[in-house]
Amino acid sequence: MKVRGLTIWPPLLLAPMAGLTHSALRTTLLGCGGVGLLSTEMLSAARLPVENAQFSPYLVRTPAEQPLSYQLLVADEKYVPAAMARLRQLEADSVDLNLGCPAPQVRRMGGGSCLMDDPQRVRRIVASCRRATERPLSAKIRLGERLDEASLRDFCHMLVGEGIDMLTVHARLRGESFARRPRWDWIAKVKQWIDIPVIANGGIDSVENARLCLELSGADGLMIGRAAAVKPWIFSEIARTLYDADIPIVEMNLPQLYSGFVTALVDRFAPERRLGRLKEFTHYFAKNYFFGHHLAVQVQSSQSLEDAWTRAVQFFIANGSPPNRLPHHIAALTAAKGDCNSQSPNGEIAP
Ligand SMILES: Cc1cc2nc3c(=O)[nH]c(=O)nc-3n(C[C@H](O)[C@H](O)[C@H](O)COP(=O)(O)O)c2cc1C
Repeated sequence: MKVRGLTIWPPLLLAPMAGLTHSALRTTLLGCGGVGLLSTEMLSAARLPVENAQFSPYLVRTPAEQPLSYQLLVADEKYVPAAMARLRQLEADSVDLNLGCPAPQVRRMGGGSCLMDDPQRVRRIVASCRRATERPLSAKIRLGERLDEASLRDFCHMLVGEGIDMLTVHARLRGESFARRPRWDWIAKVKQWIDIPVIANGGIDSVENARLCLELSGADGLMIGRAAAVKPWIFSEIARTLYDADIPIVEMNLPQLYSGFVTALVDRFAPERRLGRLKEFTHYFAKNYFFGHHLAVQVQSSQSLEDAWTRAVQFFIANGSPPNRLPHHIAALTAAKGDCNSQSPNGEIAP
């Protein structure tokens, strides 16, 4: 898939996820292969211009993490010029607009999914972004407040008319929880209405349902969120099976993967930023184990990264597979003493 000169291959995209899609998870995913486009967490357009790219946990990035889409949370077009200038400086490969997030704190700011209620404001924001970049500009939406074909169609046409290059559709209504089956067939409607690449999102967590999603939606690509943190190798599995991508099969070792994630956290983030991110990741990663809630609870109740790591290793040993690259991590984690629990990224809006 090519969008404004950017090759996205395989057409498998990482979903932006606050507290999760930072440099450490992106690096873990790169190690597994198969991701065509990485993403940041959502970044507040108002705060982005003053954020320090070297130290901000939301902006820290290694050269290997590419192509990388930066997701903007914009409530008003007045923030667009400075935010887009910053993204140019950061060499964003692509820019995504968050028009679908239903989180209350995002909606209170007038951003995310409540923008879909105000198409004129969205029109101004998109037009302003379009003027500011030649790079790919995408948007991510939900299906809306209620099932309303006419409103959704008009909204999609407006986005395309203002210059959006690619549209991701999270196939749920605003109020619908993750427990509800996504409406992939509605993505097929969107696909018929517009002639830019349409990416399907929501509930893709295996090769089989990726295949089903593609059949029902006819989408040009897939975006994967939570499953990326549960099984970071899911992209490579789907890429090999559904897109014939030539990605070598690497034997996955869960403790090894986890320790690689911890190493990336230690390498990239200030001590007080690590533990919250490990807790967030572990919540998902623990689902790989039958008794994974034990791992999640142990890490959740840890007071330091070192403590969390020790408990995780005990869990892995009890489950028959200790990680075998311990020394580097232990040395690194010892240096992380003083890490505290108060900076969990949960609920934060980046940056
Ligand atoms: C922890 C978490 C954080 C999220 N943060 C964002 C975000 O920053 N921007 C956004 O557009 N969507 C966000 N989402 C929604 C995801 O991008 C995605 O649309 C949703 O999880 C459905 O995809 P999935 O079923 O593959 O997880 C978030 C979801 C989760 C679980």
